[in-house]
Amino acid sequence: MKVLVATEKPFAAVAVDGIRKVIEEAGYELELLEKYTDKKDLLAAVANADGLIIRSDKVDAEVLDAAKQLKVVVRAGAGYDNVDLEAATAHNVCVENTPGQNSNAVAELVFGMAVMAVRNMYDGTSGTELKDKNIGIHAFGQVGRNVARIAKGFGMEVSALDPYCPDEVIVAAGVTPVHSVEELYKNNRFVSLHIPATAETKKSVGYDLITLLPKNGVLINTARKEVIDEEGLAKALRERTDIKYVADIKPDSADALKEEFGNRVFFTPKKMGAQTSEANINAGIAAAHQVVAFLRDGINKFQENK
Ligand code: 3PG
Repeated sequence: MKVLVATEKPFAAVAVDGIRKVIEEAGYELELLEKYTDKKDLLAAVANADGLIIRSDKVDAEVLDAAKQLKVVVRAGAGYDNVDLEAATAHNVCVENTPGQNSNAVAELVFGMAVMAVRNMYDGTSGTELKDKNIGIHAFGQVGRNVARIAKGFGMEVSALDPYCPDEVIVAAGVTPVHSVEELYKNNRFVSLHIPATAETKKSVGYDLITLLPKNGVLINTARKEVIDEEGLAKALRERTDIKYVADIKPDSADALKEEFGNRVFFTPKKMGAQTSEANINAGIAAAHQVVAFLRDGINKFQENK
């Protein structure tokens, strides 16, 4: 049986070594397709794969059609909006993710970007500190919980909104639960986004919410670009010249935003929240174990297309 690791944005070499070890010790063959730029290469490589490990790589109906032997896809990471779940189900392919494995890396980047924003993108001018400021966490999943932990180390006041998470869980983490999105944006100088991109959340953060931020508000997006209404963001930044937007996800209108708002906006060139050796090792090796567990024993604990 063959397991294909297809990563347009490769894992650190040490993580690939770990994945290889797990796959080969199980008696399977590993094929590596890294940094591919043409979908044709993925279509060819996946043709005789039984298992597939990916990151943000797109797995759509065309890929699934080409993957005649495929039984399981594991997205080494949290968000699986890059996989067509319905098509996978129709092809009888199990889709899994590896929740929590890369969340500390993403949470650390939140603070890398928060500090950069309040120190004026390190331009040498006088900035402000994070201590004693309020941070609102928009969705209290694995990344949100790590953000809360680190925020407390900075001496910040932490609150969180998550209709899918019981208040007790939020309170147990020493965080104040918030019950409306308006309240979250209105009362927090920093808002950190951790909502997944779904039909319900796409373009859900725009002008109305962003302009609720208090003076010198900073919106931090390490989630997905799709959750932002970019026209609304631009309008908000135009009207509220005190607000900043920093994102690990390049918006579609990145060039226009950069040109109009300069140092009040920042985007990483490529999504890099989970791009650390530790996160690559954790998520990559977890994915390898999950592929083996599925192919060998039919274990599907993290299946998302049930
Ligand atoms: C995730 O959903 O796990 C993160 O967005 C990381 O994505 P990546 O594996 O493409 O870096």
